[in-house]
Amino acid sequence: METRDVHPARRVRGETTPPGDKSLAHRFALISSIAEGNSHAENFPGGADCRSTLRCLEGLGVPIASRDGTVKIGGRGFGGLQAPARELDAGNSGTTVRLLSGILAAQPFESTLVGDASLASRPMGRIIDPLRRFGAHVEACEDSHLPVRIYGGRLRAIDYELPVPSAQVKSSILLAGLQAEGTTVVHEPIRTRDHTEIALRESGARIRVSDGRIEIDGGSGIRPRSVAIPGDISSAAFLIAAAVAIPDSELRLMGVGTNPTRTGCLSLLERAGAEIVLDMPRNEGGEPVANVLVRSSTLSAMQIHPSSVPTLIDEVPILAILGTCSTGGFEVRGAGELRLKESDRIDAIARNLRAIGVRVEEFPDGLRVPGDQKIEGGTVSSCGDHRIAMAFAIAGLMSKSGVRIEDPECVDISFPGFFELLEGLVER
Ligand code: S3P
Repeated sequence: METRDVHPARRVRGETTPPGDKSLAHRFALISSIAEGNSHAENFPGGADCRSTLRCLEGLGVPIASRDGTVKIGGRGFGGLQAPARELDAGNSGTTVRLLSGILAAQPFESTLVGDASLASRPMGRIIDPLRRFGAHVEACEDSHLPVRIYGGRLRAIDYELPVPSAQVKSSILLAGLQAEGTTVVHEPIRTRDHTEIALRESGARIRVSDGRIEIDGGSGIRPRSVAIPGDISSAAFLIAAAVAIPDSELRLMGVGTNPTRTGCLSLLERAGAEIVLDMPRNEGGEPVANVLVRSSTLSAMQIHPSSVPTLIDEVPILAILGTCSTGGFEVRGAGELRLKESDRIDAIARNLRAIGVRVEEFPDGLRVPGDQKIEGGTVSSCGDHRIAMAFAIAGLMSKSGVRIEDPECVDISFPGFFELLEGLVER
């Protein structure tokens, strides 16, 4: 088994640019595939998840040129995708399956989506139900798991309240609604990331958002776009955490996406006393962007209100680790969705924290990590989950004796070169 040792750090210093935002890149590629013309992106992330989306689109006859972070996509317009010759493999990527399903629901051919073992264990009933209401014919293993087989066709608009706060489900519905007859309405009781709404609006779709209600008119054509994808706040969060936790540290992260539906971790850390400055705020393709300057800080208690869980859902593993060096600890509840990610993240965080000498309380829907604990060190499992591997790498920097990570190569899902970049910022 492959392992990676991360040794304690004296401090972290420097300037770097995190990889392009994974959520934005999936949306750019998928929406561009049905645009009327050629789209172009710079800083397209090279992680395996985004490569899965590109591979699936190629399987649908979309011409794609990808080199050194520049991606060109030949949009096929509505109705221009081709029936795939074989299964579409989404690898480890839930966003690929769920968003692409919304597009496939309107295509007059059959397609089958497959993925790796982790993805095959994740629930798809949440997209199958609304897509059937649109009129698509969808089959799945036990009605909720991959392989998902979609026989698309003409869709009729729906009015749908999200049963789970999920941007992937919302986006799947909006992409189907874009191609349906009539106006689709999505009600979102708890706000989730709004990248799909922004990208669709920027592409000329008729979409209106107010107070947890999103309306999209079917049939408006999609304009191609040219964008530079901002850095991924969810990848930056690991580096930010290292700088906050390790004394005498200072990092500058360039061009990071700061959409408020994604920056719950920054707000939480700032409320707990972290020194974080957003410098040179600007806008890229409708998305807010800034440079993030962060220095080592003393953290007080970090408690998350359930309504803000979606704004930091992917940052819970690293925030739990930061809880150890806070005075008041870290607590999240109302986050049962974490059990349905690339791994059962509540279980993975709790087991791994215990393995490195940290006390933690586990709940069905969350975790509590008491503060003022020194991480001893030891061996943890990535559970094949990129965010668990990276969170425990930062725990290694903070620890007394270092952390050995089993199966570390999964960082390639969202942050290829993570360990090498980290080592370049660390002083020992
Ligand atoms: C994502 C939404 C979130 C997040 C995932 C990416 C997206 O998932 O955890 O990493 O790009 O829409 P859910 O929508 O399932 O909560």
